Amino acid sequence: MRACLFLSSALALVSLATAVTIYPNDESEGAGFYSLVERTTSPNIGARTCTLIDRGESTAYRNLAPFNNQKQLVNILRRNTHDERHHSHTHQDEVAKELFELSTNHRDIWSDLEQSFMERECDSVAKVSLLDDDKEESDLGRKVQDVFKIPQGTGKDYSLQEGDEVRKLVDSGPDKNRVGIVFMGDGYTLEEREKFFGDMDRLVNDMFIGETFESFLPLFNVYALFRPSRESGIGTQGKWRDTSFRLYRDGTELRGIYCADPRAAKQACHAVGKYACDFPSLIGNDPYYGGLGGQFVISTSSNKSGTVVLRHELGHSLIDVGEEYDGGQVYSGVNAERWTIQNIKWKHWITDDVPREEKNVLRAQDYAWYDLAKGPYKVKFESNGEYKRWSLKISHSGVDTDDSFEVYIDGKRLDWTSPGGYDRDFSEWFGDEGFSAGSHVIEFRQGSKYDNEPVDDTRPIRQLCSVTMHEFMAEDQYRFDNTIISAYPTYDIVGRKTWRPSNEFCLMRNMTSIHFCSVCKEGLWHRLLSKASLLDEIQVDCDENAQGESVFDLSAKLIPLGQFREDQSKRSQGEVYETRWFRNGVHQAEYDNHVKIQVSEEGIWEFKTEFKTPEVRKDPRGLLKASKVFVVAKRLCSK
Ligand SMILES: *[C@@H]1O[C@H](CO)[C@@H](O)[C@H](O)[C@H]1NC(C)=O
Ligand SMILES: *[C@@H]1O[C@H](CO)[C@@H](O)[C@H](O)[C@H]1NC(C)=O
Repeated sequence: MRACLFLSSALALVSLATAVTIYPNDESEGAGFYSLVERTTSPNIGARTCTLIDRGESTAYRNLAPFNNQKQLVNILRRNTHDERHHSHTHQDEVAKELFELSTNHRDIWSDLEQSFMERECDSVAKVSLLDDDKEESDLGRKVQDVFKIPQGTGKDYSLQEGDEVRKLVDSGPDKNRVGIVFMGDGYTLEEREKFFGDMDRLVNDMFIGETFESFLPLFNVYALFRPSRESGIGTQGKWRDTSFRLYRDGTELRGIYCADPRAAKQACHAVGKYACDFPSLIGNDPYYGGLGGQFVISTSSNKSGTVVLRHELGHSLIDVGEEYDGGQVYSGVNAERWTIQNIKWKHWITDDVPREEKNVLRAQDYAWYDLAKGPYKVKFESNGEYKRWSLKISHSGVDTDDSFEVYIDGKRLDWTSPGGYDRDFSEWFGDEGFSAGSHVIEFRQGSKYDNEPVDDTRPIRQLCSVTMHEFMAEDQYRFDNTIISAYPTYDIVGRKTWRPSNEFCLMRNMTSIHFCSVCKEGLWHRLLSKASLLDEIQVDCDENAQGESVFDLSAKLIPLGQFREDQSKRSQGEVYETRWFRNGVHQAEYDNHVKIQVSEEGIWEFKTEFKTPEVRKDPRGLLKASKVFVVAKRLCSK
């Protein structure tokens, strides 16, 4: 039985793989479902015990995840991982640990996938339940990374561990009525405590004090949790280190970073505070690009790309937004339209009277992940000769000097200067003429003087990461102007088209941008205000006026936006709260737009407010309104 397991598992994979063709970014199938299984094989008898350590829905991987390139229904990735903690010097008693990621785009078969995997690949299944908080997650339809559905204040009270230190970096009000973000460091040793808090200050400043989320700051609380790791840095080559949450990269590519101990990360996040952990975020102590969206936002401390990755991944999770770059998998949410231009989702933001499509075409799209030491890399494409302009966008890593990298189109060298450093970075070129009809070739090389360079394991390899080549019609048919809101085509991994709102304004497309477009911003207001109410509380104080009569001081505590922002420079023009008071159903107009009033009449009072901002044009769910009914009566006064 056991002897043929490997063969049968290979066969099973093939048959699953060929069963169905899926389109990973169908609106209805926009997500992937994953299960993480840890398998230990005991040293002498070879018994394989599997434990389901995590499962959830992954809506928003940004080409970082090892996605299902073959368009297969089912993807089983074997992460050749072993636990350094169990690493022993005698080979015989080494407990082999492996991680498998099972993923599928079809919810219907998710459970079956787990089950058939366990039957084929495991001799026994350890019954370790996931977090208590995960009980609700056993509903397969639940989006675990949907921040606003993480059950608030339920389940066990997790406690911090000895050595943990929590600092509140942004305190905007009570956790219960704010969106809570917890940054947890991984791969920071005890000696690196201050480096951790320094890195967190920098990331939070970039993110929340810098432009991207700054006008939303009053809606957030942000914590940093330091938990010392025994080893510094994060794992590579599929091996984690002895760190708090076991972050690691799959290979050497500056791309996906995975968490091999999601349970520890969830518990730590919940331990920060009962209502603090809406949104767990793991920051690896690593100087280079990488991360992942999903139930945790994962990024690194890279001072060049950490913020870039974090912003984008936070975008996915905080707003309901999909990708805007080409060649991804998930195009859903407020910034993606698949079906109609005439009734496009963001019709109320469109620059023109009548919505139209901007005309471009994607000629080449390649996630090369190519080690340039192996020789030149060519990307071929065909043009029909009908377009007027082009742009080539690539990402690369390890190309630290101007002479380290060369790019040619049809044999003609393009100008390129290094962005400096080894981190993954982006380069782009524009051409004002169209390509002639026929075949063309783009060629990438490392500078020839580096051809015989000795391998240096301590730094990223010289790598071509990704390539896209577009052709565009002239400005009358495709507008580069980033202030325009229209229907700009986006092409997914299998070449299917959706539309996005703007050309290159939004950071969901343009990695160097720090802005969300107006459509995404409106989505962000909606999401945040579905979690936090504009009205924190109504306070009623019993008081006496100068004549010694008893009166009541009523005050409405609003989240400080509009005229109540502490920093009025963050207030957009026209952002204002309108407020009204009612007594026994009758509008008390003299108190309009006051949040603190003194009254002498008892009764059933009501406070109503509406928040106006030019950043929200439609509010079908009434999220920008809040109200509260309360009783004012002398008998309720203490004393
Ligand atoms: C960014 O990190 C690099 C490498 O770790 C370091 O040399 C550089 O000084 C840092 N720059 C800033 C602005 O902190
Ligand atoms: C991407 O965003 C940056 C920063 O906002 C901007 O300078 C750049 O022009 C944008 N790219 C394109 C192609 O518009």
